[in-house]
Amino acid sequence: MTRVAIIGAGLMGEDHASIIARDLPGATLQVVCDMDMGRAKAVASAFGAKDASTDPEAVIARSDVDAVIVASPDFTHAPLSRVCITAGKPVLCEKPLSQSSAECLEVMQSEQATGRQFVMLGFMRRYDQSYVEMRAALTDGSLGRALMMHNFHRNVETPAADFTGAMAITNSAPHEFDIVRHVLKTEFTSVTAQQPRRSDDRVAPVVMVLETRDGQLVTIEVNNNAAYGYDVRAELVGEAGSVAMNTVAYTRTERKLASSTRYDADWRGRYHEAYVRQNRDFLRFVETGTFPAIASSSWDGYAAAMVAEAGARALASGQRQTINMMEQPAFYAGVRGVAA
Ligand SMILES: NC(=O)c1ccc[n+]([C@@H]2O[C@H](COP(=O)([O-])OP(=O)(O)OC[C@H]3O[C@@H](n4cnc5c(N)ncnc54)[C@H](O)[C@@H]3O)[C@@H](O)[C@H]2O)c1
Repeated sequence: MTRVAIIGAGLMGEDHASIIARDLPGATLQVVCDMDMGRAKAVASAFGAKDASTDPEAVIARSDVDAVIVASPDFTHAPLSRVCITAGKPVLCEKPLSQSSAECLEVMQSEQATGRQFVMLGFMRRYDQSYVEMRAALTDGSLGRALMMHNFHRNVETPAADFTGAMAITNSAPHEFDIVRHVLKTEFTSVTAQQPRRSDDRVAPVVMVLETRDGQLVTIEVNNNAAYGYDVRAELVGEAGSVAMNTVAYTRTERKLASSTRYDADWRGRYHEAYVRQNRDFLRFVETGTFPAIASSSWDGYAAAMVAEAGARALASGQRQTINMMEQPAFYAGVRGVAA
């Protein structure tokens, strides 16, 4: 039985605790850690954890903890991942690894120094069936060569009143950057970013156009004040056809001369199955030591941070920005690129 500790018991930490307790028979929830002891105890008791704590480093060091899930705020991800690497404990770290590509490089260096991978990143869309099928349509050749991918990320409203366009790029868009790299199996080379004008003072959508190494064009709309619901859409266009994501809804209501399906208020329902699949893969990684074929690594965290940094520069300057990624270290090549 793999004994898991969760650090950060907010929305995501609670979700991870629920998945460990209810969906992963091979794992047990050992400790829930949050800087707010009340929160740690509440989640520990709701999901039957053995213990609660407020000290992340002490939790990682515990001899009765085999693996760690980090779901505390963004700025804690890289430092806590490095503590896990030093302790020799596999970690499922929520996205982003860091908003700084330099800090991602430090995590990669710590990991490479140990000679094995420890960090799996929570870019769970790789496990969502819609994207799995898009990727398969490219791998099996039925779509021909990929030309474009269009992506829409819409939230009901911004999480904080002081949310900015730059934050839409560094906080929301990394999911899009990662999934496009994964589906197209390529890297981005440039980005432009613009915003239309809203009639109020809420943050306007950010629209990015990116080019890839293989000459594909990618559009990404991040609209954090879409008002109507949580809505993620994507379409992959190839030379022989296209694959588009359907709105995921289990029912449709017909009433008053109209037909409707409902939207969720946030991401948790839409991606529940993807989180479960991701966490199962993490558990297999802990048990076998083999990094999962489709999971996101520290390298992918670095790549997302590089694109986000260039995107924020593009928005601030109004100019197209080149993305100068380093070559992927052989250490992270592994089974990547193999169809999964
Ligand atoms: N994969 C996804 O789809 C997804 C979705 C939402 C959020 N996230 C990521 O998950 C992380 C958490 O997001 P959230 O929405 O759950 O936030 P949240 O604010 O609901 O929860 C964060 C929790 O961490 C605790 N905390 C803060 N600093 C801490 C520290 N140093 N040590 C231990 N606990 C600490 C807080 O008390 C809080 O309970 C963020 O990094 C976010 O980017 C990922």
